[in-house]
Amino acid sequence: MKEVVCGLDIGSSKLSAVLAKGTRERMELLGAETLSVRGLEKGAVEDLASFVDCIGTILEKVNAKTKTKIKSVLVSINRERIAARSSFAAVAFSERTNRHVTASDINYLRRQARLLGLRIDEFILHEFPQDYVLDDSHSTASPLGLLARKVQLNSYLLSAPYSFLGNISSAINQAGYGVLATVFSGIASGLSVITEEEKKKGVILLDIGAYFTTMLFFKDGIVRDYSIIRFGGNDITSGIASGLELPWELAEEMKKSSLVLSPTDSLPSGSLVLRRGGSYMTLERIKLYESVKQKVEQFLDCVNEALTRSTWASKIECGIVGIGGTARLEGILEKIELRTAQSVRLGNLKTLSLFRDSLDVQYAAAVGLLYYWFESKRSAHLKNCFIGRNYLERSVNFIQHLFQEYF
Ligand SMILES: Nc1ncnc2c1ncn2[C@@H]1O[C@H](COP(=O)(O)OP(=O)(O)OP(=O)(O)O)[C@@H](O)[C@H]1O
Ligand SMILES: [Mg+2]
Repeated sequence: MKEVVCGLDIGSSKLSAVLAKGTRERMELLGAETLSVRGLEKGAVEDLASFVDCIGTILEKVNAKTKTKIKSVLVSINRERIAARSSFAAVAFSERTNRHVTASDINYLRRQARLLGLRIDEFILHEFPQDYVLDDSHSTASPLGLLARKVQLNSYLLSAPYSFLGNISSAINQAGYGVLATVFSGIASGLSVITEEEKKKGVILLDIGAYFTTMLFFKDGIVRDYSIIRFGGNDITSGIASGLELPWELAEEMKKSSLVLSPTDSLPSGSLVLRRGGSYMTLERIKLYESVKQKVEQFLDCVNEALTRSTWASKIECGIVGIGGTARLEGILEKIELRTAQSVRLGNLKTLSLFRDSLDVQYAAAVGLLYYWFESKRSAHLKNCFIGRNYLERSVNFIQHLFQEYF
């Protein structure tokens, strides 16, 4: 059955909303909007009234454009304090004999791994069972029906602080909308930008945003590792603004229109003419480049370190896929390729063919949310307790969630 679904990506610098109708196999794009965010500080709610107003504005725009009335949205979020960690759980069946591993054994192990890996003020956004080890020796991704005396699960969890999720959720409610599910934006973008084959062979999704950069490592079809780097496009803008004593807006414009990061260390030549206030000034390109050089080098070091730290980097066969506004900075992906010796490409929406109209990759997370919704419904395991069309439904889900977790 065809459904109308709205994906809302809450970035630290912009909101993006996509409205589509259809099924996972075929979606018809009804409308897409983007808006500079107000009321957030590095992705967390700072000024509730402004943020509520901002959410209301973008969703009203989508409503007006598509002549629909959205009631609930799927939300993707990104923030510094999204944490990733490994968790383990084990179950022993009997002292002497083997028995077949059942679905309830697997559910028990997954629940234990979630509980053991969870901190008190957190909510688990996503869990990725890595492998099940049978009798300390046989590692498998699907133990169902196999004989064993004991089974250990190694799981990987992505979590976020309750207060952060609660604030986002209540702002959306105050704007007059329900929240169907809350998803990490990297997971959502992964669904719309990366193919299943790339995920199997191994790929890194590098999202270079406004304040920070996230790296999600996929291999064998699942998330294996995650890294966050405290660097984003706004660090480059602030380098230009402070280094050249320019106002922020002009520095931002210079970054987008004139900054080129040469992959080799050859220095740019020539000069630019900029309009500042009522007068014109000339600026040598080399000065523009030098104002950001150090920050870019530090960023490249951080990306390289994240790769060196990860045991999964050497198993990646499809390289790095760059998304996020700062991946458009001229030359940055080439520089990453040279520094890391991984192949790097700019991400595109793989869903493009499903829509009649083309859609820019800046909507990657918002479109990915639609995929997430149809996939989750199909596999029927939406376990997110922040789901529900209204406050009452979400509260019931939340209480059910707590009950299941503790009793
Ligand atoms: N063409 C461009 N060239 C260089 N930088 C760009 C370009 N377009 C956007 N940016 C920069 O990208 C950054 C915004 O990236 P993006 O839109 O991915 O952020 P976001 O999704 O709001 O943030 P996040 O996901 O990190 O919370 C800003 O710093 C902006 O200046
Ligand atoms: Mg983003």
